[in-house]
Amino acid sequence: MVPLRLPLLFTASLLTINVTCQKVRIGECPDVEPVLNFNATAFSGLWYENRKYVNRFTLGQKCVTTRISSNDDSVLVFDTLGYEKFFKPVRLRGFALQTYGPDVGAFSVGVPIAEDLSNPNLNVIDIDYDQYAILYGCRTKMGGLSHLEWLWVLSRTPYLTAPTLTAILLRLSHHGFRPLALHPTEQNFCPDNIPGV
Ligand SMILES: *[C@@H]1O[C@H](CO)[C@@H](O)[C@H](O)[C@H]1NC(C)=O
Repeated sequence: MVPLRLPLLFTASLLTINVTCQKVRIGECPDVEPVLNFNATAFSGLWYENRKYVNRFTLGQKCVTTRISSNDDSVLVFDTLGYEKFFKPVRLRGFALQTYGPDVGAFSVGVPIAEDLSNPNLNVIDIDYDQYAILYGCRTKMGGLSHLEWLWVLSRTPYLTAPTLTAILLRLSHHGFRPLALHPTEQNFCPDNIPGV
């Protein structure tokens, strides 16, 4: 078992306070596990940001993509590109170290590198590699009184078909998340120059 489990101190009826633009919630981080038979090679390649909790990294951006390259020693490189108003490109490049080794989808992500390499700040919690990936990160604040959350649905294509999307949103519900709190990312009328192409 991965030492990620944190006490579940609250129930599903979470009180959400929107402070600035991040999801801040009462209590400790929820009990969410990373994928345990993870394949970094299969995770590599181009992903589209399909929807997310509003976050400061891609706030207000459209056409957000990320290209992930698998490296040696459980290190992934990511290259994220999004567009602000008037198609001003915003690029974010960094490293994601697999915190618990190559088989576990738990990452210490940083730009350029995470400050704390012994604690994951982003987990792949659900993935089929060909169509979608669900990424979740959480950090406790104020000694566990509240926490900050990130959640992304990534897709291999700019848009997902309705049945696929429905299935993903159902899986999110099963993980204890509220799919309707996710914000879809505009992937229409996008520039051609996606990263690494
Ligand atoms: C990981 O994924 C790659 C690419 O899809 C595949 O060739 C490889 O067999 C997979 N490894 C395992 C252990 O399943």
